[in-house]
Amino acid sequence: MGMNEPLNRKLRMALVGGGQGSFIGRVHSIAACLDNRAVLTAGALSSNPERAKASAPDYGIEDTRAYTSYQEMLEAELKLPADERIDFVSIATPNHVHFEVAEAAVKAGFNVVCDKPMTYDLAQAEQLLETVQSSDVVFALSHNYTGYPMIRQAREMILSGELGEINAIRSQYIQGWLVEAMEHQESKQAAWRTDPSKSGAAGAFGDIATHAYNLGRFMTGLLPDQVSCHLKTFVDGRRLDDYGTAIITYENGALGSVTASQITHGRENDFEIEIDGTKGSLKWRQENPNEMIVRHNGKPHQIYTRDPKAAHINAMGRAACRIPAGHPEAFFEAFANVYNAAFDDMAKRACGETFERRDSVYTNCYDGVEGMFFIQQCVASSQENAAWVPLRHEAARK
Ligand SMILES: NC(=O)c1ccc[n+]([C@@H]2O[C@H](COP(=O)([O-])OP(=O)(O)OC[C@H]3O[C@@H](n4cnc5c(N)ncnc54)[C@H](O)[C@@H]3O)[C@@H](O)[C@H]2O)c1
Repeated sequence: MGMNEPLNRKLRMALVGGGQGSFIGRVHSIAACLDNRAVLTAGALSSNPERAKASAPDYGIEDTRAYTSYQEMLEAELKLPADERIDFVSIATPNHVHFEVAEAAVKAGFNVVCDKPMTYDLAQAEQLLETVQSSDVVFALSHNYTGYPMIRQAREMILSGELGEINAIRSQYIQGWLVEAMEHQESKQAAWRTDPSKSGAAGAFGDIATHAYNLGRFMTGLLPDQVSCHLKTFVDGRRLDDYGTAIITYENGALGSVTASQITHGRENDFEIEIDGTKGSLKWRQENPNEMIVRHNGKPHQIYTRDPKAAHINAMGRAACRIPAGHPEAFFEAFANVYNAAFDDMAKRACGETFERRDSVYTNCYDGVEGMFFIQQCVASSQENAAWVPLRHEAARK
């Protein structure tokens, strides 16, 4: 993949979030640097200024580039010579902070990799899309499940018609870690996820159903029409949903379902998706991500394994692999594949070349608006006893 051709240098990364005791910021730093195409150069790592500074050595960030806020970081980085300044900002803060950081970074001319859900609410997402559209930056959204080799394989198979017309998408994202009120047990991850002022209008549906919905869209390209959703809160006193099911109609007549749970005993990060076509069906499960099952009536079930040398692995699947078959690749590598696709465009932008902004391989700002619309409409439907509500968002269509 070269060193970010035609730029031929590493991209300089800044991380917002990821301070001591946090979760996904560390994953961003590992994924972005996995292929030696980026170097973590600067950070505003925590909402707490002292912890922001104290966390910097854990990442090898020099003290002069360890900032106490993202505002300070953007201002200081803009004053640096262009050959020292950061190229992109990765946002790994709780949901309610994404918009202000992303908007400021884009306006300052920096590329952005933002975690999901893209913003706190739909209005912010629509505003951010406008800002991104009126800029020339690369904006990637880390729906990391789109980066798995078997998912890329499936996408190419589906888009080339191997499964025929798509009739159904069933996805379920099942966890159990919130079956107790972890928000009252010093879990800061649980605390903000169950707080409507930080998480947004939905709990489990904002946190994980957005991944499940996005993956079905990514794999099939089907355009949504309507949604009917029922959200529930099972844990006493919790202010947001911890379980829900949505039924989705697609414009081609297909039906989809998304179930998300955070209250299922013993289920860890059990995300699986099945797709039914008129010529075949397939199933993938993120806890066993190097395999995918493809089925045809009357034939033995086919287990596809992640084997970059195998003839049946297509170009998309092969390009997403790093090591030979049988050596498991998983979360970090898939995350890195989203970064890699964004890096291709960041390198092009830095060299004044054009790049595709709507139909990019990496999930982007349009997917982010769709995700926020999905959350908003699921909540609206649930409040009306699972009434059907529209799921077409014209500005976000891709
Ligand atoms: N893509 C995925 O698979 C995935 C997985 C987990 C989390 N996420 C998303 O990542 C985000 C973070 O989740 P988490 O579980 O890592 O949360 P976390 O609570 O573990 O970490 C959040 C970090 O952000 C910092 N922060 C908060 N406000 C800040 C500010 N103004 N400036 C700088 N830093 C600030 C906190 O101090 C903390 O270090 C959320 O949006 C979440 O939905 C995505």
